[in-house]
Amino acid sequence: MKDPKDYIAQNKERFINELIELLKIPSVSADPAFSQDVLDASQAIKASLLKAGCDIAEIHETDGYPIVYGEKIIAPNLPTVLVYGHYDVQPADPLELWDSPPYQPVIKKTEVHPEGAIFARGSCDDKGQLFMHVKALEYMVQTNQLPCNVKFMIEGEEEVGSDNLSIYVANNKKKLANDIILISDTGMIANDVPSITTGLRGLSYVEVEVTGPNRDLHSGLYGGAVANPINILTKMIASLHDENNHITIPGFYDKVEQLSLEERAEMAKAPFSLEDYQDALDITSVYGEEGYTTNERNSIRPTLDVNGIWGGYIGEGAKTVIASQAFAKISMRLVPNQDWEEITALFKSHFENIAPKGVKVKVTPHHGGQGYVTPINTIGYRAASKAYETTFGKKPIPQRSGGSIPIVALFEKELESKTILMGFGLDSDAIHSPNEHFGVWNYLKGIETIPYFYQYFKEMNS
Ligand code: BES
Ligand code: MN
Ligand code: MN
Repeated sequence: MKDPKDYIAQNKERFINELIELLKIPSVSADPAFSQDVLDASQAIKASLLKAGCDIAEIHETDGYPIVYGEKIIAPNLPTVLVYGHYDVQPADPLELWDSPPYQPVIKKTEVHPEGAIFARGSCDDKGQLFMHVKALEYMVQTNQLPCNVKFMIEGEEEVGSDNLSIYVANNKKKLANDIILISDTGMIANDVPSITTGLRGLSYVEVEVTGPNRDLHSGLYGGAVANPINILTKMIASLHDENNHITIPGFYDKVEQLSLEERAEMAKAPFSLEDYQDALDITSVYGEEGYTTNERNSIRPTLDVNGIWGGYIGEGAKTVIASQAFAKISMRLVPNQDWEEITALFKSHFENIAPKGVKVKVTPHHGGQGYVTPINTIGYRAASKAYETTFGKKPIPQRSGGSIPIVALFEKELESKTILMGFGLDSDAIHSPNEHFGVWNYLKGIETIPYFYQYFKEMNS
């Protein structure tokens, strides 16, 4: 592989501008108001794949948003890389907290991105990261050095649970056959501390509803005499953690993988400054499960968090009312061996059990998925590690992430191949938050590193 640096330097402006065009499309999968934009984004991805040198790029319809499939097959005896990514984005709300509009990308310097970062919804998660693969393909094709066959599968429903992708994968095993799956939809420790994500947490997402009286009541006339659904809901939620911040749902920890002290010691070697961590978030202390470090709490331990809670009067001024209903959305991050459907069932029966007399409780499961851990003694991992070593000048650290990409466990089950998570984002890039951004340096570094992965993967396979 010739050093991609020159090609990247010559095409840098265009690479950035093409990504900016893609970021202007508000492809929010969660909100039907943006459905045409999501479809437009799929078309833009298809066009970019053809432009980059794919022989085939197709839009595959599903019951939801389409999957963009592209391929360039150069020889049947060469290994095949399947690239996965998503063109949908999270809602940009709350809009007032953005310093610049979410779909009008701007480049601004930050402390950790002195060369500038592109600010826009989806810049890091995942349009910027998936586009690195498109541009890396362009480089390899333009310079006649594509070492492997390549397939792209880019979906539009990752942020809402990938339901239709699961069906698509199960129905298209042959078309999607591959030797390794490559995804850039995670992060790394720091620009001078490269890391490869070796684990993702699973997820169980539920919505709960507590119903008291059949209508909203005057809080003077009825207050004290009937159950207030908001009081009850908050009390029930509070009881889900004990004083050591362990989750109290019976059976919740039964299958949790216990890491050995050696494994935990190995994890603790990754550079981490508690002070910087707290400063970056403006908090004076971290908080979490007793007996575990911050990095353990957000990667190898399961969690339960309320993501949203509502009910009653939240308008201007005061209204003396006991609402008939209260609601919350709750997510549980799971670790390897915990089964998300089993955990969802445990949650449901526990939550129904702890409801006091006088209210009705309804638990509605949303979506979920299994966690994933990738071994580091495989050709795929070693090829990725060597690629980072080539372009960063340092061996990357294997690191388990706290986030979830539920479809990865399904890839392993249905396609029987491992996934390599080459993420180039940083935790501070504010994905899912206002002012999401992606470092220009990171974007270009990804484009530089990916071709070496192809090269080393091919070499190690032959
Ligand atoms: N790209 C993220 C997941 C991620 C980010 C993993 C950073 C590791 C590091 C993905 O788009 C995402 O947001 N996933 C959701 C789950 C999905 C089912 C909505 C998540 O983790 O909340
Ligand atoms: Mn993502
Ligand atoms: Mn996301």
